[in-house]
Amino acid sequence: MRRITVAITGASGAIYALRTLRALLMHRVAVDVVISEFGWMLLRDEAGFEGKQRDFGGFIRELYGVSVDNMALHPLKDLAATLASGSAQSDGMVVVPCSMKTLASIAHGLSRNLIERAADVALKERRTLIIVPRETPMNLIQLRNMVAVAEAGAVVVPAMPAFYQKPETFDDLADFVVGRILSLLGIEHDLYPAWEG
Ligand SMILES: Cc1cc2nc3c(=O)[nH]c(=O)nc-3n(C[C@H](O)[C@H](O)[C@H](O)COP(=O)(O)O)c2cc1C
Repeated sequence: MRRITVAITGASGAIYALRTLRALLMHRVAVDVVISEFGWMLLRDEAGFEGKQRDFGGFIRELYGVSVDNMALHPLKDLAATLASGSAQSDGMVVVPCSMKTLASIAHGLSRNLIERAADVALKERRTLIIVPRETPMNLIQLRNMVAVAEAGAVVVPAMPAFYQKPETFDDLADFVVGRILSLLGIEHDLYPAWEG
């Protein structure tokens, strides 16, 4: 079974994280989830998740009607978790949405929490690391940090939905970005119609 880490940080766009989890779980991918302090705040403010952290799986199950049996939530501070080691199985990691703060930390290899460490491990093990930044406008430091992670092997997928597929809902908009993430992970999907020229 394929195993992907999903990190959720405190950039606006909780919907991108939720739709990513939905898509991966629907494709029967095992998902390790790590959420930053501000990530939890954005999940509350933008997605209405008011529960305790341990209720997050139930929230996803009710929201999308998907099984969360393959989803494991890891504490942000648990630097002894399996995700912190290159020896544990992982088929890639997505930071969605990725704040400029976490982007900077990954770009500089700080590894201060489980999100930063797992991203560091993904890079050193040459695994797929997808960073989904959301900020506008961007300053030179932020742009340079994106270059730094790209040079280190990450794929930068800005949260930039397209409109040619004629989205009708926020979910459609988010699923465009999620589709790009799944494609990069090598997962076939039908989240939006392929462009036929
Ligand atoms: C309502 C709200 C929206 C925010 N949106 C963004 C954003 O879109 N992009 C960003 O880089 N930071 C944003 N921030 C700032 C981050 O949450 C802040 O830098 C935080 O320290 C990020 O920490 P984390 O990366 O550990 O989640 C926002 C903060 C708040 C309170």
